[in-house]
Amino acid sequence: MKQKIEQLHEVVNSWNANSAEELEAIRIKYLSKKGEISELFNQFREVPNDQKREMGQLLNQLRDTAQNRLNELKATLEAQRQEADKLDLTRTAEPIALGTRHPLSLVKNEIIEIFSRIGFTVAEGPEIEDDWHVFESLNFPPEHPARDMQDTFFIEQHPDILLRTHTSSIETRVMTKQQPPIRILAPGRVYRNEAISYRAHCFFHQVEGLYVDKNVSFADLKQALLYFAREMFGEDTKIRLRPSYFPFTEPSAEMDISCNICGGKGCPFCKHTGWVEILGCGMTDPNVLEACGIDSKVYSGYAFGMGVERITNLKYQVKDLRMFSENDVRFLEQFK
Ligand code: DAH
Repeated sequence: MKQKIEQLHEVVNSWNANSAEELEAIRIKYLSKKGEISELFNQFREVPNDQKREMGQLLNQLRDTAQNRLNELKATLEAQRQEADKLDLTRTAEPIALGTRHPLSLVKNEIIEIFSRIGFTVAEGPEIEDDWHVFESLNFPPEHPARDMQDTFFIEQHPDILLRTHTSSIETRVMTKQQPPIRILAPGRVYRNEAISYRAHCFFHQVEGLYVDKNVSFADLKQALLYFAREMFGEDTKIRLRPSYFPFTEPSAEMDISCNICGGKGCPFCKHTGWVEILGCGMTDPNVLEACGIDSKVYSGYAFGMGVERITNLKYQVKDLRMFSENDVRFLEQFK
């Protein structure tokens, strides 16, 4: 019996339970009425009288040790359970660092927001375009030298398919599907075959505007652009329009704003002129309206197109255009 008690002592010391069920199984196996330890108590009757005292003590010790061990394991399990309750299972595993919007998106959205307040809605068109939408419908006849203004990426074997060089293609996408009044803003990426440097890239972004209705005049264009310049660059911003040439507008102009870096006094950014160019614009050429099935005797329109990188540079003075497409987080994080 003594041997059996010692053996059970060892067993008790090695007890382990990972769950309440396992713990209960141990209790039943050893300490329930028919458990191994209780069995020993039953056998106690047969112990010779002269050993009863010693065995009784040993047995009691064993039972106490077993009971203590059981309590100990129970306490450990309870502590583990409480610890688990503290876990917030809805919490994400890793802290997620919030990203920032790309500066070009910020500026693009701001342009859209400003024009949406005077009734412009957003239109879209494909980046892979056909010659007709990018050039021909916009009054660039085949072989016309004006096509050289924009160095174009053509798709090999398909001279008719190209990467759009300007978002003006969206103008004719819309005008062929919809009759006036049309008042749209068309943001998008454009492509030109230019050597990549700090001031040029083979892709960049433009926002095009088009308004076609009855009696649209150059004064309307000027007023819309003045409103835009003031909203974008501040109340005191001045604009000036210089005559220019684009095949799809007549008359055409380029718009400068008073340099918002030096306030028009002259600085390296505005090459000491006090003015910086920000967009091209003009009255939609009647040929363009007619090519899209809009009666140019009834309707007139104005259009404008600006580079998002250019506007962003003016707002944030980014010196190297390549930064916009390198995805350097140190650069991007600065735009909050
Ligand atoms: N599409 C011209 C360009 O990429 C910009 C432009 C000029 C757009 C005059 C216009 C406009 O709508 O009227 O250089």
